[in-house]
Amino acid sequence: MGVSIKTDQEIKLMREAGKIAAESLAVLKDSLRAGMTTSELDAAGEELILKRGAEPVFKGYRGYKHATCISVNSEVVHGIPGGRLIKDGDIVSIDVGVRYKGYCGDNAATFAVGAVSGKASKLIRACREALKAGIKQARAGRRLGDVSSAIQKVSEKHGFSVVRELYGHGIGRDLHEDPLVPNFGFAGEGIHLRAGMIIAIEPMLNTGSWRIKTLNDGWTVVTEDGGLSSHFEHTVVITDGDPEILTIW
Ligand code: MF3
Ligand code: CO
Repeated sequence: MGVSIKTDQEIKLMREAGKIAAESLAVLKDSLRAGMTTSELDAAGEELILKRGAEPVFKGYRGYKHATCISVNSEVVHGIPGGRLIKDGDIVSIDVGVRYKGYCGDNAATFAVGAVSGKASKLIRACREALKAGIKQARAGRRLGDVSSAIQKVSEKHGFSVVRELYGHGIGRDLHEDPLVPNFGFAGEGIHLRAGMIIAIEPMLNTGSWRIKTLNDGWTVVTEDGGLSSHFEHTVVITDGDPEILTIW
């Protein structure tokens, strides 16, 4: 499978899906507080998505049973919503994906709950900045490695490591399409980016080592050394001009 170039009509539908994913994430951000459980957050997310006439695309994906992934502190991604209570001082990554009229939108962000450590807020800021730097390179005429290398540079400049075993991805009718979008690599390498490609760029930054492991639940990815982790994701269209972010919130 090559990397697909979306038609204008497809991009229009992707815009709608992206908007639903982004607005759902924005509402969850506002409802996030200490004392709630991660499954309450997930239930709210599912309701928001359904209310907009979309489907939570994660639900049923490889047997995943929830609408969102909620990853707390040393959890990197794919945290399973459940009875865990969110506490003051936690950092919480919320990942929301939808399918609407056949097309997917995917986005994630990490939020501080109450007063978090200086290191935690620095990590969150660095991850947001790394995503922004990656998006800036997502233009026709550049190469995928330009995106990857920009993300890695910003992450490491701030003294954080970037997860190596999980990637961003192309997105369209399917949540995961070609190409894989690494968060590390070399400028000038990789496929040539072309207008009409749509990719989900999603850096994951750790305070300690980039190494991760998956818990016995088969989903939850955590840092191997127990350090904190942050995750930001946007769905982005490559154009002949500036990149178009479909999941602005
Ligand atoms: N946003 C993540 C991704 O792009 C979450 C998908 S995992 C799922 O890979 F199983 F929950 F769908
Ligand atoms: Co994704």
